[in-house]
Amino acid sequence: MQPDPQRYTVTAALPYANGPVHIGHLAGVYLPADIYVRYLRAAGRDVKFICGSDEHGVPITIRAQKEGVTPQQIVDKYHAIIRNSFADFGVSFDIYSRTSSQTHSEVASGFFKKLHEEGKFIEQTSQQYYDEKAEQFLADRYIVGTCPNCGNDNAYGDQCEKCGSSLSPTELISPRSMLSGNQPVLRETKHWYLPLDQYEPWLREWIVEGHKADWKANVYGQCKSWIDQGLQPRAVTRDLDWGVPVPVAGAEGKVLYVWFDAPIGYISATKDLLPDTWETYWKDSGTKLVHFIGKDNIVFHCIIFPAMLKAHGDYILPDNVPANEFLNLEGDKISTSRNWAVWLHEYLQDFPGKADVLRYVLCANAPENKDNDFTWKDFQARNNNELVANLGNFVNRAVVLTHKFFDGKVPAINGELQPIDQEVLIQLAEFPQRIGELIDAYRFRDALHELMNLTRAGNKYLAETEPWKLIKTDEARTGTVLHVALQLAAGLVTLMEPFLPVSAAKLGDMLHLEKGSWQTAGRPDALSTGQQIGAAALLFDKIEDATVEAQVQKLLDTKKANELANATVAPTKEDISFDDFGRMDLRVGTVIAAEKVAKTKKLLKLTVDTGLDQRTIVSGIAEHFIPEALIGQQVLVLLNLAPREIKGIQSQGMLLLAENADGSLHLMQPGQAVLPGSHVA
Ligand code: MF3
Ligand code: ZN
Repeated sequence: MQPDPQRYTVTAALPYANGPVHIGHLAGVYLPADIYVRYLRAAGRDVKFICGSDEHGVPITIRAQKEGVTPQQIVDKYHAIIRNSFADFGVSFDIYSRTSSQTHSEVASGFFKKLHEEGKFIEQTSQQYYDEKAEQFLADRYIVGTCPNCGNDNAYGDQCEKCGSSLSPTELISPRSMLSGNQPVLRETKHWYLPLDQYEPWLREWIVEGHKADWKANVYGQCKSWIDQGLQPRAVTRDLDWGVPVPVAGAEGKVLYVWFDAPIGYISATKDLLPDTWETYWKDSGTKLVHFIGKDNIVFHCIIFPAMLKAHGDYILPDNVPANEFLNLEGDKISTSRNWAVWLHEYLQDFPGKADVLRYVLCANAPENKDNDFTWKDFQARNNNELVANLGNFVNRAVVLTHKFFDGKVPAINGELQPIDQEVLIQLAEFPQRIGELIDAYRFRDALHELMNLTRAGNKYLAETEPWKLIKTDEARTGTVLHVALQLAAGLVTLMEPFLPVSAAKLGDMLHLEKGSWQTAGRPDALSTGQQIGAAALLFDKIEDATVEAQVQKLLDTKKANELANATVAPTKEDISFDDFGRMDLRVGTVIAAEKVAKTKKLLKLTVDTGLDQRTIVSGIAEHFIPEALIGQQVLVLLNLAPREIKGIQSQGMLLLAENADGSLHLMQPGQAVLPGSHVA
C-alpha cells in the first residue's frame, strides 16, 4: 500500500453500453468509488475520477443485429442514458468518456503496436468456425448448437445457459451460425496472444506475496486461485468488424479483443481530460492507481491488465482493486435479460429528488464482503428510521429551536462548558479521522455507520439536555446547548458530503455554510456566535407504504411476465381417429344461473341452457370467476360426458376452458353470440 501518494487516479469499471445501469452496478462499483473520490477531494488530495462507456464487444453487435440497427446506434443510445443517470445520481466523474472515441482508438492502437514491435505477443494459428454465407468468422456467442452435457438445443458457443457448463464452440453438437442459420465450417485464422504464463512468477510475487495484507480477501483469493491453476496465453485479437482494428499488416477483418481495449479506455479517457498532463496520472510513481470494479471483473483488472501494463513498461500498476461482491434484489440474482433489476434511470424518475436515499441504502447495505440483498422494505425502513428519524431529526431540531428561541442567530456559549458538552465536542473532533480511515481502507459501510453514530450522539445530546424545556428556566444555558448542537450540524456539512452530497449541500444552505476541508470538519468553530442561519428545511421525508408497495408490484409483474414467456407448452397427445373425435358432443350453451357449492372452495354449480334442456354442471372454477359474472355468458360444453355425482349434486356434462400458463382460466366463447345448442365441430 502506498501510504502518502502525491496524487490519485481512481477508475470505475467502464459499463457496457448495451443496457442501462442498475442498483447492482451502483452498490458494487460506482457508489463506493464516488464516496472515495469525494472524500479525497475534501481532504485536499489531487485526484482524477475516470470512467466512460465500454462500447465494443460481441454483446453489442448481437444486440444491434436483434434490433436491426447499427452497433454505433446502440452505443449512442445507451451511452447517453448511462451518462445522464450517473450525473443525476451525483457520481462525480472528472470525465465520462467512451471507447468509440478517436483518442481511444489511437491510444489502444499505440499500446498494441508497441507490444507487437517489442515482440511481447506470440502469434498462433487455430481452427475457428467460419460462416461461408455471411463470409465471416463467428464469435463464440454467434454459434448455437446442442449442449453435449444436457442436450439443450440452444446452447451458445461459450456456455450452455440451461445447465451452466462452459463450452468451446467445437464441443457443440450440430452447430449453426446465428447470422445465417447455416452450419459453420472450421477455418484457419491467426491471432495474437499475450503469453500470461511468462508473467506468472512476477504476478505471484506482486500479488500473492506483495498484496496479501492490503487487498480484500475476496480479491486476493480469486487472484491466488487463478495463479495457482497456472496461466495460459490469452488471445488479444478477434475476427470481428466492430472494435479497434488490429494495427498491423495482414490483420484485415480483425479487431482488438474488447478486454484488451476496454481497460486502456481508462488511459485514453485520462488523456481526453488532460491532454497535456495525463501522463503524470499514469506513469509517475507518486500516483496511486485504484480500480473500483465488481467481482466478475477481478481477473481482468488484477491479472490481465497489469500484465499488459507490465509488458508495456511505462505504466504504474494498481495499488488496490477493491472489488465488491454482488447485490441481489428481493432474494433473486439481478438479471438484465430477465429485467430483474431496479434501473437507475427509472428510480430517478419514480423518486425525484431522492438520489441520496438510494445512495444511503446501497452504501449501508453494500455487498463489500459477501453478496447482499436489496429489498424495498429495507429501503423504506432505512429511510424512515435512519435518515428521517436520526440524521434529519437531529438537524431539524437544532435549526428549528435556534429560530424559535434565538431569532435564527447562533447563540453564544455562556459560562463554562459542562462535561456533557465537552464529550459531544470531543466526539465531533474525532470523527473526521475515524471516518476517513475507514474510507481509506475501502470500508464504506462502516464509515457510513460512524457518520450515523455522530448524528445519534447529537440526538442523545439534545434528548439529555432538553433545550425545549430548559428555555423556561435557563436561557443562557439553552444558548450554549444549541451552540454546541449547531457546531455538530456544521461538521456534518463536510462529513456527510461524500455519502449524501445533495443533502449536504441543502444543509450547507440552511446553515449558510460552504463545505470545508475534511481535516477541519471536527472543529467546534465552523459557525460564529451571532451568525444568522437560514430557515429550516426537511432533509428527508417519510416514505409511505403505498410507495414501496408499488415498486414491489412492479417486480411481481416482471416475475409473472417472465413466467409466461418461459412457460413451456405441453406436448401434443397421441393421435386419435376421426371416429373418436366424432363421439364427443360439443355444444355452445348459455349460463342461466351460477352459485357456489356450499362448504367447498373450488366448486360452482351452474345451470346451462344447452338448447336441448337446462342442465346442471358442477365445475371447479370458483376461484377464477364470480358467479354473477358468468350469468348470460356463452360457454363451451361437452354434453355427453357420463353424469357424475359431485358433493351430492348430479353434474351432467363438462365446461371446457382455456388454462393460461399462469394458471388463470378463461371461457371459450364463439366469436359472436350463437343459439344455445349450436354444434362445435
Ligand atoms: N464493461 C465491463 C463490464 O461491465 C467492464 C469493463 S472495465 C474495463 O463488466 F476495464 F475493461 F474498462
Ligand atoms: Zn447444457
